[in-house]
Amino acid sequence: MNHGPVLFLGLVTTLVASWTGFVALPHRQLGALQPDISTNAAGAIVAYPAARSGEAAQGAEVYRSLGCVACHTQQVRPENGGGDIARGWGKRRTVARDHLFDPTVLLGSSRLGPDLANYGERLGTNAFPLVRLYHPSSAATHSTCAPVPFLFEQRPIRSSGSSPEALVLKGTAAPPVGSEVVPTLRARQLAAYLRSLGTSVELPEALLPQVEDANAPK
Ligand code: HEC
Repeated sequence: MNHGPVLFLGLVTTLVASWTGFVALPHRQLGALQPDISTNAAGAIVAYPAARSGEAAQGAEVYRSLGCVACHTQQVRPENGGGDIARGWGKRRTVARDHLFDPTVLLGSSRLGPDLANYGERLGTNAFPLVRLYHPSSAATHSTCAPVPFLFEQRPIRSSGSSPEALVLKGTAAPPVGSEVVPTLRARQLAAYLRSLGTSVELPEALLPQVEDANAPK
């Protein structure tokens, strides 16, 4: 008996089913995603997400090229899917729209270090501590975060005095007397990217947890 037509039909069905499942349906679900437009507390109209500034966008490439994603995720799991929110890694779960303007989505899958989806928000108004990149153990005790000292330049202190950008380093991390360690452009770009990380904006598909009003009538 000739099984050719059945085999052909089986092959076509498999291809069509996988194309529908992996391409057409996700495209229908996510393809038309747009930034969410809302009014903030000050009455201004804001769009979220917004494209990153040039420096932060270049920093995303530095982050990608250094393989930071091997140890850091950028996806906050929902409350019923793990302890991410309880750990303070985010106020709500991560959704596809958070990464609308990311040319490469760096979700990651291994968490040897903390999730960085909201790292910029965790910094608050503080500047990014560049010393964390040069010598992580100066920022956190016995840190196993990957140091990237090649993003810095060690140079003799100029006659005009040490640079305001020079890192404050102690102990074994300190450069020889008369030298200083200053960030290169790539270090500043990476810092701008890390500073830009934040997703705590309410979206229709990811609401922020309601904060209970202590004065509300019971
Ligand atoms: C080998 C795994 C590993 C790699 C690779 C790695 N990290 Fe880390 N990272 C960690 C660990 C573990 C911590 C927690 C200890 C600490 O605070 O230093 C951490 C902490 C951090 C923190 C502080 C997070 C917080 O919530 O305070 C930042 C920022 C960070 N890493 C950035 C980076 C960047 C940028 C890169 C790429 C250049 C990178 N890491 C590569 C393991 C890693």
